[in-house]
Amino acid sequence: MNEKQLKHLLSEMSLREKIGQMIQLTGVYFDEQAVLTGAVGEDLPPEWIIKYAGSVLGMIGADKIYEVQKKYVEEHPHHIPLLFMADIIHGCRTIFPIPLGQACSFHPELVRKAAMSAASEASSQGIKATFSPMIDVSRDPRWGRIMESFGEDPYLNGVMGRAMLEGYQKSEISKDGYEEKHFSREISDDGMAGCLKHFAGYGAVNAGREYNDVEISQRTFTEQYLKPFRMALKARPAMVMSAFNAIDRKPVSGNKELLKHVLREQEGFEGVIISDWGSIGQLEEQRVVSGQKEAAYAAAEAGVDIDMMSPAYMFWLEELVKNGDLPEALIDECVWRILEMKNRLGLFENPFSGIKQNIVISPDVKSTAFQLACESCVLLKNENILPLKHKEKVFWVGPYVKSQELLSRWAIFGKHSDVDTIQEALNKKEIQAECIQGCSILSDEECKIWQAKAPYVTEKDYNTENLSLDRIGADDTVVMVLGEHEAQSGEAASRAFLSLPKEQMELFERITERTSRIITVILTGRPLDLRRISEKSRAVLIVWRPGTLGAEAIVSLIYGMESPSGKLSVSIPWCVGQVPISYWDMTTGHLFSKSNPDDRFVSRYMDIPNTPLYPFGYGLTYTSFEISDFHVYAAENENVCVSCKVENTGAVPGAEVIQCYAETICAPVVRPAKELIRFKKVFLKPGEKIGVNFTVGCEKFSFYGKNMERINRGFQVRIIIGNSSSNEADSCVIQL
Ligand code: BGC
Repeated sequence: MNEKQLKHLLSEMSLREKIGQMIQLTGVYFDEQAVLTGAVGEDLPPEWIIKYAGSVLGMIGADKIYEVQKKYVEEHPHHIPLLFMADIIHGCRTIFPIPLGQACSFHPELVRKAAMSAASEASSQGIKATFSPMIDVSRDPRWGRIMESFGEDPYLNGVMGRAMLEGYQKSEISKDGYEEKHFSREISDDGMAGCLKHFAGYGAVNAGREYNDVEISQRTFTEQYLKPFRMALKARPAMVMSAFNAIDRKPVSGNKELLKHVLREQEGFEGVIISDWGSIGQLEEQRVVSGQKEAAYAAAEAGVDIDMMSPAYMFWLEELVKNGDLPEALIDECVWRILEMKNRLGLFENPFSGIKQNIVISPDVKSTAFQLACESCVLLKNENILPLKHKEKVFWVGPYVKSQELLSRWAIFGKHSDVDTIQEALNKKEIQAECIQGCSILSDEECKIWQAKAPYVTEKDYNTENLSLDRIGADDTVVMVLGEHEAQSGEAASRAFLSLPKEQMELFERITERTSRIITVILTGRPLDLRRISEKSRAVLIVWRPGTLGAEAIVSLIYGMESPSGKLSVSIPWCVGQVPISYWDMTTGHLFSKSNPDDRFVSRYMDIPNTPLYPFGYGLTYTSFEISDFHVYAAENENVCVSCKVENTGAVPGAEVIQCYAETICAPVVRPAKELIRFKKVFLKPGEKIGVNFTVGCEKFSFYGKNMERINRGFQVRIIIGNSSSNEADSCVIQL
């Protein structure tokens, strides 16, 4: 439709039809088998709402969506199609690694490619919008949703969020990378609308407890938590989701200052603001309104266009408009944005756009999933044991060696039956290995806590397997595959302890008594306390939740068919007592110095180190790299130019992530210890040497002064080049 036709349509719609567009219902009102991703209230929506609702979430199945859409469009007075949305978080049918893992690839082009495949698969099932990417800066592994984010760094969240969004919406990509350029607003036929979430600050929930309040300063919120949104908004997301949490005690879903002034006016967002599940209704629980009518008023005034699953809009918006409390013009503005989004997706021309029957996982998508799984894994330790040789006698031990549970709770459309187990992957590659489960992922007791399915290893299996474990001797190599259960991360999965499940740790200890040749592979949705594992293993590979092609990637990395290249997107803490922790934590007084570790009155823990077990940006490979020829100069055009050379000095091909950090030397306010400002992943053959250049606009070093004024000039910055946040190859101070 052109603009004129769309405007005409809006002018013809009744108030109820318009309000309908502003309501999103779960699929269970249309189909009993739809997936529920949140709690449903007791009050059923009025019948007219079901008739006019503008969008539906969580419906699965191309056939069902086709039928519901057909009936709906026929019966709707203006034949406006429904928009089906879902949480396609890390793949649709083909499941890629969780976003926390994808970020470890430091390879935005690959992340974008994976998102394109997810969009094609989702679109073929009638899903034309996803609630992804999540770009909440996350530095507290107790929070289960850390798995959905791109980790602790604001810049990395911005780059990856933008890449993923571009992949979903299939907009044109600029040659200049992911920083500056604007893109066309159209979303291609097999693309889907993306949604930046959760705006904003949700990653900082107090004490890592799900749905908790957020207490961060206005400055930290603006500089660190809004940064990824500012960056990803440039790719023109169709939607932004307003978060559950409050900022400065003002819940976001009723926060006009944040949604209208910051998001729309300051950052120029023109798309749809959708509430999180029930977050408008929740204003009553947060006690900032005295009932649902006030909640509806506050959210509409703040500019929330779609109410996802709360009673507020569906029961009260009509009355608020009829009584003159809310102008109909405000409703029109919201509905206009929603109609525009449907139009961007081409739904008026074809309400069934993209729908096909079954999804067949194509070889091309498989290869992207494999590549991304490989590049997401991070080699944390390797004491001359990896890669293994094909002919070596190896035991693969642990509950994940015969398991297909390599996906996550956010893999709604994924199928465990598509996943090869590690044992199958070994067999396919004709690698000699003995596979022993040894225990189940969770004990019965833990299953109850995590509301997980009962363990699947029977008593009988244990007995036979225990005998096999007895055959492991001191010369044998054991690859242990351990980890969290799928149910232990994701939404509503906060943890107070970051330990591995009990039986798995017991199994690990039993193996340590038999051999020291242990390699441990860790599957997880969050950083765990890996001290004991790291101490007793000769090598440790963290693979996150690696997705459909996970087993193949793990086997390929362990046997050196692929070289690990992932770098941590998040610090692995020493223990839970350190969290929240990130490399960009603020500079303090009473500075702890490594040269005087016994000083008492310094900022330190008396019982553990200050530093994490493994820092942000860290990760080993099977080769070695040298960074040299580092130069920095301030160009006349307001840019800082950084260059260096990098050489593969080892014997095998590999990839290195060149990381550039900045540290403000002195400022009127306390600044982060350092901040990542650019990175580049380079793939080099042995002996190959190339140049890496970064151009950074001077404004990227700016910060907010004492009165929140922007400071661009008159300070010094140390520019650092290295291959992790704690490993500096070189640095240089410049004056801005
Ligand atoms: C989550 C969102 C999600 C929505 C729809 C909410 O509970 O916070 O991230 O997109 O449900 O499933």
